[in-house]
Amino acid sequence: MISIESAAYAAYIVAALLFILALAGLSKHETAKAGNTFGIAGMTVALVATVVLAVDHGVSGFGLILLAGFMLVGALIGLQRASVVQMTGMPELIALLHSFVGLAAVLVGWNGYLHVEHIDGAEARALGEQGMLGIHSAEVFIGLFIGAVTFTGSVVAYLKLSAKMKASPLMLPGKNFLNLAALVAFVTLTVWFVIEPQLWLLAAVTILALGVGWHLVASIGGGDMPVVVSMLNSYSGWAAAASGFLLANDLLIVTGALVGSSGAYLSYIMCKAMNRSFISVIAGGFGLVTGPDDEADYGEHRETNVETVAEMLSTADSVVITPGYGMAVAQAQHGVAELTRKLRERGVDVRFGIHPVAGRLPGHMNVLLAEAKVPYDIVLEMDEINDDLANTSVVLVIGANDTVNPAAAEDPASPIAGMPVLAVWEAGNVIVFKRSMASGYAGVQNPLFFRDNTQMLFGDAKTRIDEIVGALAGARV
Ligand code: TAP
Repeated sequence: MISIESAAYAAYIVAALLFILALAGLSKHETAKAGNTFGIAGMTVALVATVVLAVDHGVSGFGLILLAGFMLVGALIGLQRASVVQMTGMPELIALLHSFVGLAAVLVGWNGYLHVEHIDGAEARALGEQGMLGIHSAEVFIGLFIGAVTFTGSVVAYLKLSAKMKASPLMLPGKNFLNLAALVAFVTLTVWFVIEPQLWLLAAVTILALGVGWHLVASIGGGDMPVVVSMLNSYSGWAAAASGFLLANDLLIVTGALVGSSGAYLSYIMCKAMNRSFISVIAGGFGLVTGPDDEADYGEHRETNVETVAEMLSTADSVVITPGYGMAVAQAQHGVAELTRKLRERGVDVRFGIHPVAGRLPGHMNVLLAEAKVPYDIVLEMDEINDDLANTSVVLVIGANDTVNPAAAEDPASPIAGMPVLAVWEAGNVIVFKRSMASGYAGVQNPLFFRDNTQMLFGDAKTRIDEIVGALAGARV
């Protein structure tokens, strides 16, 4: 007869396998839906097994009510948030969820310490005699540190992504030194705590880690936020794994390690794509010495209007559209698809150039264009289109800003220097659709707007695109 405990552990293995299948599925468009289903199934199995295990271990009636109550409230809040969140608000929701993982790890760490403090003398002695107390103390300390860094780091990421805090990097004097000093203090406190566990040491490391998390993410500029979100994803995985060790829960260790390593790998890939140093980003912009330069005088910009743009497009040989976050905000993708269809009917060669971090999510623009039924074969990646831009008659920059900023390629002092961008300024004419001269997500001025071949078409992108489509319909071919 199989005991309930063995059955629950077997279910944990099934859940771990389902999580691995989920990750594998999510790595490709075609299998992403199946991957999601595997993830949901794995989480359901894991939750049921954990509750059954708690009952088997004799959890009190009150404990069970608490467990059921919190699961219900959490599930309802999660369902509500997920059903109302806009695509553009997804990264900040993810950042907020990471902060919960961090907070949970902090609470588990504190509980781990207080539990040992309160267990009876015999049990504590047994732990001590087995040499387990030191390991336990190290687990508490390290788990708490990672959890607290993840918590405040994710809160700052949430505030920056939701524009409740300035996206530009915080440049405290001697910030690299501060980070190094915090690391040395952490190692010293850990050794001390392992030798002699004391409450004040735990409080000290909690405060230290909360400060480190805040500083690390506050020091990273807006343009690097996509990497930060995946890096915090990784940290939250390691925080969960550390909690798994403390709670002696194998599934939490496996799941945490999966999230931690896949998040780290994604951060590494994104750093490579954006020509950023991985170490610099995970160390809170370590070595970064430049600040945003909004003082420079780039001269006057030129404005245009709907009729002129419609005329220019109808006589163009080739058009490249580079969409960005503003297209998502304006929900202009359907109008853009209609414009594309109209221009192609007139024999204009229309293609799209997609920057890897355009918008606020990996693949954000691809999803919107696919939703509006723009044919896949004319939607090209940045590397595929960049060399052709010099031979393009007109580029339409629709709500993009940082991803088309020449300063990244030409100004070594720019905060976004070195980030690969779409070289739209090389085209014959550039039309920029946006509502004002405001900077983009990274908070950096864009010299593109002042170039001789650039004209600004101010207003909401959807309204302007629809007006151009209307003007084209009325115009002679
Ligand atoms: P951004 O640099 O964010 O610029 C978007 C522009 O759209 C703004 O300058 C804004 O100007 C304009 N805009 C906003 N609403 C508009 C509307 N209704 N109609 C017309 N224009 C509108 O965009 P991007 O080029 O896509 O760059 C993305 C940035 O986000 C990068 O810095 C990237 O690192 C960061 N980021 C990306 C991700 C991922 S994974 N993709 C995640 C987090 C952060 P106005 O206000 O003047 O209209």
